[in-house]
Amino acid sequence: MIKEREYRKRRKKIAKKLLNNSVVLLTSAKPKVRSNDTNYPYRQDSNFYYLTGFKEDNASLVFTKSGNKVKTILFVQKKDRQEELWNGKRLGEIEAKKRFLVDEIRVSSSLKESLEELCKDKENLYFDFSIEAPKIKKSLKRSFIAHYDISLLIKKMRLIKSKAEIKLIKKAIKITKKAHHSAMKFNKCTKGENELLAKIEYIFKKNGAYSDAYTSIVACGDSANTLHYIANNKDLKAKELILIDAGCEYEYYASDITRTIPTDGKFTKAQRELYELLLDTQEQVIKMIKPNILRSELQKKAEILLVDGMIKLGIMRGKREKLIKKLKHKKYYPHGIGHWMGLDVHDAAPYLDADKKEIALRKNMLLTIEPGIYISKDDKSVPKRFRGIGIRIEDDILVTKNSHKNLSAGIAKSVKEIEAKSYTCNSNL
Ligand code: GLY
Ligand code: MN
Ligand code: MN
Repeated sequence: MIKEREYRKRRKKIAKKLLNNSVVLLTSAKPKVRSNDTNYPYRQDSNFYYLTGFKEDNASLVFTKSGNKVKTILFVQKKDRQEELWNGKRLGEIEAKKRFLVDEIRVSSSLKESLEELCKDKENLYFDFSIEAPKIKKSLKRSFIAHYDISLLIKKMRLIKSKAEIKLIKKAIKITKKAHHSAMKFNKCTKGENELLAKIEYIFKKNGAYSDAYTSIVACGDSANTLHYIANNKDLKAKELILIDAGCEYEYYASDITRTIPTDGKFTKAQRELYELLLDTQEQVIKMIKPNILRSELQKKAEILLVDGMIKLGIMRGKREKLIKKLKHKKYYPHGIGHWMGLDVHDAAPYLDADKKEIALRKNMLLTIEPGIYISKDDKSVPKRFRGIGIRIEDDILVTKNSHKNLSAGIAKSVKEIEAKSYTCNSNL
């Protein structure tokens, strides 16, 4: 768990960066309608959560700054018996006062009126441009000299993970590890992608991760060549590979893991050749990770290794430099080497600094490394035995003081490890 003190420390850090004579308004996520009168399960906005640790809807966080004086006010929903009967318990202002280390707690119904008072004499208004712009402009009667996007300051802080955050991410990965190992074990006695997905989600929920961090992908054979294949509804066919990109969210923190496994427990020769090329590439890229390395250097290394390997296997023809310059590799490896991960699977932290220069890796940043090779079943330019194979291998890597730590290293990955997990099974588990 993340302690209240840590949330307060984050708020203090943000407050230091605010201009004098400012007000900040940050609001909770809005509930999202699924259809008619049913909603998706509520999930707090990550930036709001980062500064408050508060999971309820209809809440706001306000900062005021005059000179060196900063005040923080959290607005929470009132207790309401009827509402709580239908939609669950609310903390309410009395309990909120005991729990949160903010200067003041007020009720959400007073927000509008409070804002008029709190904004008096203030020149600068900070809010999250992506979610608040239209509402703020309408609700406040007065105008400010300047508007700033508070989310940019928060996102920058989210680049570096604290000890407590890393602990939660490790826990998410631990649960995800169990889920992938279960898929590796049951692949032979599972009929469809959907059934395998159900086994994964069962493990997530059973272990206290009540949501996935993103919609899982369980893609057999050529389906893996659709990068965002989320239908997950085809039968598993013999002698195919299954690409499984699935990671749970634990206490708001993501994991993001891909493994590619054979349907009948054993890789064919062609599958193995491609798999080992990709695995070697992924491992070599991971080895490079340390402070001051750029993500673009990792990308370049992956492209060089994959193109060299694909030339060797007869998938690509020509000179490596020329092929890469002409972006020919994009046909088989069209995406990036990885992304920041944290409260969001694609963590909303920046990739460029204020001068538009790429941000280099630093201690306690966390990123995925996920090269892939995708060969369509209809690609006649490729030797037949490789067609219809899509493979991605993805791990979650923490940058350390002088090097890195692969937090998902315990999830079976080599051909030998994956084949050893699979067992013959006759029952319909
Ligand atoms: N699962 C989303 C991604 O790998 O980026
Ligand atoms: Mn990813
Ligand atoms: Mn992924």
